[in-house]
Amino acid sequence: MVIQFAADFTWGAATSGPQAEGTFHKKHENIFDYHYHTRPQDFYHNVGPDVASNFYNDYEQDLKLLKQAGVQALRISIQWTRLIDDLETGTVDPAGADYYRRVFDAMRALGITPYVNLHHFDLPITLQRRYGGWQSKHVVDLYVKFARRCFELYGDQVTHWFTFNEPKVIVDGQYLYQFHYPNLVDGKAAVQVAYNLNLASAKAVAAFREINQHPDAIIGTIINLTPVYPATQSDGDREAARFAELWANDLYLEPAIHGRFPEALVERLRQDHVLWASTPEELAVIAANHIDVLGVNYYHPCRVQAPDVAPDSLQPWLPDIYFDEYDMPGRKMNLDKGWEIYPDALYDIAMTIKNRYGNIDWFVAENGIGVADEERFLQDEVVQDDYRIQFMTDHLRFLHQAIEAGANCHGYFVWTGIDCWSWLNAYKNRYGLIRNNLRNQTKSLKKSGYWFRQVSATGHVPD
Ligand code: NOJ
Repeated sequence: MVIQFAADFTWGAATSGPQAEGTFHKKHENIFDYHYHTRPQDFYHNVGPDVASNFYNDYEQDLKLLKQAGVQALRISIQWTRLIDDLETGTVDPAGADYYRRVFDAMRALGITPYVNLHHFDLPITLQRRYGGWQSKHVVDLYVKFARRCFELYGDQVTHWFTFNEPKVIVDGQYLYQFHYPNLVDGKAAVQVAYNLNLASAKAVAAFREINQHPDAIIGTIINLTPVYPATQSDGDREAARFAELWANDLYLEPAIHGRFPEALVERLRQDHVLWASTPEELAVIAANHIDVLGVNYYHPCRVQAPDVAPDSLQPWLPDIYFDEYDMPGRKMNLDKGWEIYPDALYDIAMTIKNRYGNIDWFVAENGIGVADEERFLQDEVVQDDYRIQFMTDHLRFLHQAIEAGANCHGYFVWTGIDCWSWLNAYKNRYGLIRNNLRNQTKSLKKSGYWFRQVSATGHVPD
């Protein structure tokens, strides 16, 4: 079947402030800046976020290159630690405010639509250390102050707003599986953080509705969805998959789209004595403030089986006492990143959104493949990344099928435009359509960049 997308389908790229800008002239450290400055050895090749892809200094040139690669819309994030001067009162740092205004102007001048996200894992370290980070409702309110400043400052330049990127990764990384500072393992705290992030998102949506007057302005949130497949159709495996699905996906989708929490999950957490602390006023804010648009990050599915050991015998409480990961024989893996490649799941995601989430307006906010040592694929100074073209083609094929079947998906944003810094992995795996040669900080289109340009110009994906 021919893969032809509609003329108004949006072809975009996604990045984030902390992974692209570099820390130049930033007012505060975020948790990654702090982690790096205190324990650089935890980062691949000891490389931290200080320069990143130098977007702070290079943004004009970078935007031109993205334009050349056919990028029509660019997802970036405003860094709390750059925009805000006093974190408690929420006063703005004029230089930080001016920087983002210039970036949005430059995007507009090139005809690139900004999709602006307000939080990409980059919590100010002071708020982590002083209040326990997202465990604290005071931090929720400080985030909302920051969000308000963004709406006030850029409401005339930006129409597409997003409250969070991948809230689940904050929960997992900081409070369960120790891959983001402060590397805790605390199931009860994780449950509270998941609730607080949903609350913060709804409160930011409420502030947006109050402040933003632009008739075309919309607000959403960006959730990484990992469809869960049971190892077999046995009751035990299916029950494990059901819990994993509730915990990984519905915990964020339901409040954002339907304004409530999944009842089965609430019941489970209550019985296990780990349910979050909430107030009727907060639940009313969540109930009243739904998103307009959903961003979906998709990389890999999740395959589970019934746990080996009965959950109720396990202490302390952690969500994965209810499921074990299942290493399905023969599944296709990205060997560099260790993630399964399963493009079919994009169709399943689309059908879940269609059938259970009101077919809300959505787009693929991130999809892409990380590959190590891409310099080995250089030919005449162009990275021949045919594997990336294949990866995107396969995913776009399933997305196209889903749209044919009625999915309300309006765009595809690749992660990422320009090779950028990736958390603890730094520059180990590259994801960009555009190569960033770290030896001399020069940037140039990869083969996939030229391919993307063609796809975005025609809407046609060669198969
Ligand atoms: C998801 C995150 O939003 C982004 O920050 C990260 O670098 C990519 N996935 C690749 O792992």
